[in-house]
Amino acid sequence: MNLSTKVGSFALSNPFIAASGTYGYGTEYGDLSPAKEWGAVILKSVSKNPRPGNVPPRCCETDSGMINSIGLANVGLEKYMAEKLPAFASANPDAVCIASLAGETLDEFLHLAEKLSGNSTIKAFELNISCPNVAKGGMHFGADCSASRQLVQEVKKISSVPVWVKVTPSTTDPVGVASVCAEAGADAVVATNTIPAMKIDITRCRPALGNTFGGLSGPAIFPASLRIAYMIHRALPQLPLIGCGGVDCGEKAVQYILAGCSAVEIGTATFRRPDTLAEVKQFLKDYMEKMGFKTVEDFRGLAAR
Ligand SMILES: Cc1cc2nc3c(=O)[nH]c(=O)nc-3n(C[C@H](O)[C@H](O)[C@H](O)COP(=O)(O)O)c2cc1C
Repeated sequence: MNLSTKVGSFALSNPFIAASGTYGYGTEYGDLSPAKEWGAVILKSVSKNPRPGNVPPRCCETDSGMINSIGLANVGLEKYMAEKLPAFASANPDAVCIASLAGETLDEFLHLAEKLSGNSTIKAFELNISCPNVAKGGMHFGADCSASRQLVQEVKKISSVPVWVKVTPSTTDPVGVASVCAEAGADAVVATNTIPAMKIDITRCRPALGNTFGGLSGPAIFPASLRIAYMIHRALPQLPLIGCGGVDCGEKAVQYILAGCSAVEIGTATFRRPDTLAEVKQFLKDYMEKMGFKTVEDFRGLAAR
């Protein structure tokens, strides 16, 4: 069974992509979930300077998912380039690596894109304009159409690799944001990121997270993220689209493809079951065989017609 797919002109051996922030710098999982088995892996979002992240606790469980307020903790661009990318490349010579860029300002995004353009390990950029856990940049950027347009246009001018944009579910007009990104030249849109949420610890009588609010991920967000992906595909059928949010089994991945996505990111599910990728791949093969589909393209978007 041929599981290969294309996101625009970007070819992947299979539609499954490890979501940023849930696969570290691509070496931590080792043999538990080898990078080369994924269609691609997206490393933890990188910012210009190192970020310590938010005060702990940074994660808590909820029904059918988790809330995180990591706050884009990361090693910063210098260490990323000097240590993390070479370590990834030597541990995973056959894997496809995508860099997730997180700037607080347009200039920071451009700095990241400029420095990482031409790095042979990076095959695409994902612009994280949808993180709910940081005071600047992130979601505040992504909910603003004119800021998104300018960002994508400027990054495209200096990028030597495809530019994907991860849009936020926290806007009343996700289709509008996706449309602006497409007009600005985005090679694909990723729908979507975590949904703002909170939990209260009734013993401490305080919010459970040090940052009070965080981003909800996991199965709880699947129906909401799927709806946004579907709406974007209906409005912009030519725009390469990647589904993200809540996939913990092959059946949900297939739903994203039927909604119009060429690939599907998986994050939180891998924390619970590092073998999630093997299960979703097997499900996809069995589904395609049962339904008589030869390729992913044969059924992509069928539910949106
Ligand atoms: C612990 C954690 C850290 C995350 N860090 C990032 C990040 O650095 N950049 C980013 O774009 N998304 C980040 N995300 C969001 C995921 O990439 C993904 O969009 C989200 O979790 C929804 O997918 P899922 O339900 O399959 O986990 C993070 C998610 C979690 C759970």
